Amino acid sequence: MTEDFDVRLVTEAKYYYPDPQYKRNSWMGDYQTAYKNFLADPDAFWSTMAQELDWIRPWDAVKEWKYPYAKWFTNAKLNVTLNCLDRHVNDHRRNKVALIWKGEEGRERIFTYQSLLSSVNRFANALKKIGIKKGDRVCIYMPLVPEQVIAMLACARIGAVHSVVFGGFGAAALNMRINDAEAKVVVTADITVRRGKAIQLKTIVEEAIINAPTVEHVVVLRRRKPMVDLQDPIEIDFDEIMEGVSDECPAETMDAEDPFFILYTSGSTGKPKGIVHACGGYMVGTYYTSKYIFDIKDNDIFWCTADPGWITGHSYIVYGPLAAGATIFITELTPDYPDAGSYWKLIEQQKITIFYTAPTAIRMFMKMGESWPNKYNLNSLRIIGSVGEPLNPEAFEWYYHVIGKDKTPILDTWWQTETGMLLITTVLGEPLRPGFAGKPIPGIIADVVDKNGKSVPPGTGGFLIIKAPWPSMLRTVYKDDERYRKYWYTIDGVYTAGDLAVKGKDGYIMILGRSDDIIIVAGHNIGTAEVESALVSHHAVAEAAVIGKPDMVKGNSIKAFVILRVGNQQSDKLMQELIYHVRNTLGPIAVPQEIEFVEKLPKTRSGKIMRRVLKAKELGMDPGDVSTLEE
Ligand code: WT7
Repeated sequence: MTEDFDVRLVTEAKYYYPDPQYKRNSWMGDYQTAYKNFLADPDAFWSTMAQELDWIRPWDAVKEWKYPYAKWFTNAKLNVTLNCLDRHVNDHRRNKVALIWKGEEGRERIFTYQSLLSSVNRFANALKKIGIKKGDRVCIYMPLVPEQVIAMLACARIGAVHSVVFGGFGAAALNMRINDAEAKVVVTADITVRRGKAIQLKTIVEEAIINAPTVEHVVVLRRRKPMVDLQDPIEIDFDEIMEGVSDECPAETMDAEDPFFILYTSGSTGKPKGIVHACGGYMVGTYYTSKYIFDIKDNDIFWCTADPGWITGHSYIVYGPLAAGATIFITELTPDYPDAGSYWKLIEQQKITIFYTAPTAIRMFMKMGESWPNKYNLNSLRIIGSVGEPLNPEAFEWYYHVIGKDKTPILDTWWQTETGMLLITTVLGEPLRPGFAGKPIPGIIADVVDKNGKSVPPGTGGFLIIKAPWPSMLRTVYKDDERYRKYWYTIDGVYTAGDLAVKGKDGYIMILGRSDDIIIVAGHNIGTAEVESALVSHHAVAEAAVIGKPDMVKGNSIKAFVILRVGNQQSDKLMQELIYHVRNTLGPIAVPQEIEFVEKLPKTRSGKIMRRVLKAKELGMDPGDVSTLEE
């Protein structure tokens, strides 16, 4: 990689100004003031946040930083569920709706804070009954049903460490995760339901535990009638073990630094990393951002469209919003089932106020056309969010105009499995800038630097780094601390996120993509995300992925895979038009040498395009680990 990043900076500074009431009525208030207060005394800032929550014993110090290891809220004792559940049950939220679930054919389930606590306690007692103790690992491999959330919280109640594996993974991926974590129990269901079809989850588990010597039991939620048979004595029924147990279960006293959960994330190479989060800091970070960034109020209905099996779901379906006392909405329905209006219909029906989704979904909505959202009343929305990859300016505009009706602020939140909570966004009330995620939130010091850690000037690309520890940062990579240290040693003294970014003169940060998603063409660094964004800005393009192909002269040439929007036909003329379009937008250096029209792109289940797979296929090579591939 060369040192200078030739990055196209959006020089025209375009902003949208939200209604001043957003700032006036927000928990955060003025961003600049809050940020200044944080900088003046970071420990006092986090201490104030933490004091809004319930602790069994207070901390001796807010943080203890011994590079590259941080401890937060040292010697404090707590249990996360006391904050997510009991705290509300003991005040005015006792009978408030905590969770609304929608399934296919109009099925609906509703839990109040009290009834959710009872279910969590009963499942916690059930886990104890089958021998689960504090520190044991429990693998949760479930569909998006309330029991998935209940199982997570039940683990938290008794101090068991959950490792949630997304219900769309296959047997090999599941097996690797079970074995790495040495899980004693797997919690699953007979089926998951996708677009009217049942997918056999239990069969996948059966295969996944063949070579998993640590697994003692599989707890199965049986959704289907007649119920599937269970294999005695390994498999046990979810509801049956909850029978006859108390709905009270004392919360285990946890140290702030005790491991809370493990969550596997794909590394750029090698096997997935088991990211380990700690109880105290994770709770404070997700609570703070849910309340002060998503601005959750008592009458909000919060819908994060992720699955609890991803960090987004851990932090912004389960732990953050519940700690903030929100009503959360979850659904097993997909955006295209029963039809392309499914999500908009749910927003209208449920009067969703905060909607949090991913750019890949937004681009899919764009592809399906605005007639779908236009059929429904989306007036209840007051905040819309995005996470997972760069929200390209075109997708931003569409989201802002068509869904946000030119008035709803977009929270484009940048973060990672490793960071536990969102770190960069445009705080409510601040001007929105298409293409830019925004600035570090109060509590976070971020910068864009060169490989020696030196700040680069505005308009120059560089590495996105975090300069000081934060409460919800990962504590280690499970059984592989070396990989943890790499985050802090790649650039001396700071946390390197592995993303490339560029800052505007206004301090706003544009995320360009992973640093391994850079193609060097004739000595110029070209971000795949940039070329893709250029392609997608053409009216005929729905989605695009670009890869580098070895080139004798230029080192690499660019090949683009393009999905067209409905109503467009592939043709040589269109191909020329796209090439011309990229040339006009990015310059000749970024022009794809080849364009291939395709129907689908290989994606991870979280929606990231796996360029590595495209590239391997293109070059006739082995694609390597494809366990995270959607199909
Ligand atoms: C990577 C982390 C954090 C939840 C989902 C993904 C990319 C995430 C944004 C954003 C541009 C983003 C980054 C990051 N990313 N949010 N708002 N703008 N890029 O979690 O699987 O750990 O992936 O997702 O490249 O490093 P993850």
